[in-house]
Amino acid sequence: MKIVVIGGSGLIGSKLVQKLGAQGHQAVAASPNSGVNTLTGEGLAEVLKGAQVVVDVSNSPSFEEKAVMEFFKTSTGNLLKYEAAAGVGHHVALSVVGTERLSESGYIRAKIAQEKLIKESSIPYSIVHATQFFEFVKSIADEATEGNSVRLPHVLFQPIAADDVASAVARVAVGSPLNGTIEIGGPEQFRFDDLIRKGLSARNDPREVIADPHARYFGAELSERTLIPGDGAQLGEIRFADWLKRSASQPPNANLPSTAAATATKRA
Ligand SMILES: NC(=O)c1ccc[n+]([C@@H]2O[C@H](COP(=O)([O-])OP(=O)(O)OC[C@H]3O[C@@H](n4cnc5c(N)ncnc54)[C@H](OP(=O)(O)O)[C@@H]3O)[C@@H](O)[C@H]2O)c1
Repeated sequence: MKIVVIGGSGLIGSKLVQKLGAQGHQAVAASPNSGVNTLTGEGLAEVLKGAQVVVDVSNSPSFEEKAVMEFFKTSTGNLLKYEAAAGVGHHVALSVVGTERLSESGYIRAKIAQEKLIKESSIPYSIVHATQFFEFVKSIADEATEGNSVRLPHVLFQPIAADDVASAVARVAVGSPLNGTIEIGGPEQFRFDDLIRKGLSARNDPREVIADPHARYFGAELSERTLIPGDGAQLGEIRFADWLKRSASQPPNANLPSTAAATATKRA
């Protein structure tokens, strides 16, 4: 199948393109880096020619409330319009577990708007809700930092490795459209503050992580199960401790293509 991966140069996108290619599909990475811009429509008609499936794993360069809303509304609207014209039969998008419980967050409101456009479009679709990626630990800590400490609530947390996310999204992309949402999460549950503490300590990051029930996660107050997937969720295989060991033994960004490495370096 010809499968176009929007955001194919990113953390998940680059792994997805590689996995789909290894399965014998024609996986095409599409992003501004390769002349395809979903905000302007540039390159879309060309890249979607003959595509059966489009997977959208793009992300907004800015998480500022207005910018991120503009990104997901405009890019998704353009993408769906060009997909309809090209006769694409399956639109797959990656979103976040618990969007419906996290609407206090401007970023999540933009993801909800993205999902609404997809559900209202004429194109058969599948939405994958993932929990937070292991690779996102530092960004979460940065967002929650006040002075030299990181404040996070002691709620349940079930993060997943980007590799497991890409495998799950690849399975969905080659399957029939669900016209619905599936959830994926990591194989183990932690406490939010405990996991971020472990992640920072493994990087020799000196910040102290303080459990604070009212600390917000990207603008949203959390309760015990806000970030946790439901009972039917598909679980990844990679354990956080093993992922940490593996990451420590590799040079920074060793497994990333150049643009994803640049993004990760920005995050780091
Ligand atoms: N982080 C988490 O814990 C988490 C959890 C659940 C779901 N998600 C979702 O996972 C998705 C992927 O995240 P990620 O971390 O893999 O993203 P990422 O590494 O930041 O990559 C973003 C991608 O978006 C592309 N992009 C940016 N502007 C674009 C545009 N105008 N047109 C087309 N492509 C554009 C970038 O292309 P260039 O390289 O060419 O700029 C890049 O390929 C996001 O939608 C996010 O909401 C994340």
